[in-house]
Amino acid sequence: MSEQTTPTPGGPVLELRGVHVIHKTRTGGLFRPGTVHAVNDVDFTVARGETVGIVGESGCGKSTLARVLVGLQRPTKGTVLFHGEQMRYDATTRRKLGRGVSVVFQDPATALNPRMVVREQLMDPMRVHHIGTEAERLKRVSHLLELVGLPQSALDVLPRQISGGQRQRVAIARALALGPDVIVADEPTSALDVSVRAQVLNLLTDLKAELGTGMVFISHDISTVRYISDRMAVMNAGQIVETGPAEKLFNNPEHPYTRTLLGAVPSLL
Ligand SMILES: Nc1ncnc2c1ncn2[C@@H]1O[C@H](COP(=O)(O)OP(=O)(O)OP(=O)(O)O)[C@@H](O)[C@H]1O
Ligand SMILES: [Mg+2]
Repeated sequence: MSEQTTPTPGGPVLELRGVHVIHKTRTGGLFRPGTVHAVNDVDFTVARGETVGIVGESGCGKSTLARVLVGLQRPTKGTVLFHGEQMRYDATTRRKLGRGVSVVFQDPATALNPRMVVREQLMDPMRVHHIGTEAERLKRVSHLLELVGLPQSALDVLPRQISGGQRQRVAIARALALGPDVIVADEPTSALDVSVRAQVLNLLTDLKAELGTGMVFISHDISTVRYISDRMAVMNAGQIVETGPAEKLFNNPEHPYTRTLLGAVPSLL
């Protein structure tokens, strides 16, 4: 099985055009429900081989945007294109999207089934998508473990029997199982012990170089985002206020909010 499942002629894998998401909130009355404009007129693209960082403070709409990218959240307004085709929220599109775009969340425990050993966790997506024979899948699982730097002995353990950092490695291996074009990682290191954050970040960087997978890396920490990203988008109150090459944005920020974020960051990671 090859790492790449969908041939992309260099164009964006995912593209958002004028996307808005308005959440209804539980506050507000029955006849006047409150609303939150979580994503406000966002344009965004990500292609294979590039890492695009999204940075912004808590509540600015990063996770909502991530959910739009992976097809879990339908925009209130605007267009989502997957390989140039407008996303329809039907079973066929979901299946294609499930194979081409995977997600890594902040807390690996939520991504993994607590009662399944690592081997089964990694076999599962391939079984669901009817990929390979059982023997081929097993071989792939063993390769995935190698890719994320875990020993083969990890195959027989349950998620709770390994550390948080190792669990996140398993979640990343699972995200890679189908050879996605893009991985959307929403605060993938925030729940981890400081000592293993750098290891997981380095793993993601290595994988990007090795597999050519595109990545959307989301964090509230501008230094972490800069470390891993080629391009960066700064989000504030649902809008992307500044975007550009990571180095330029970091060294020469134009928007006052980007400067504020830079000023507020004490250290790396
Ligand atoms: N399902 C939902 N229903 C109602 N409001 C929501 C929902 N999801 C998010 N919101 C609201 O939308 C806004 C953006 O939330 P979101 O989770 O996207 O922010 P975030 O940038 O990921 O924050 P954090 O850094 O804390 O993870 C917040 O005001 C949040 O309360
Ligand atoms: Mg979030």
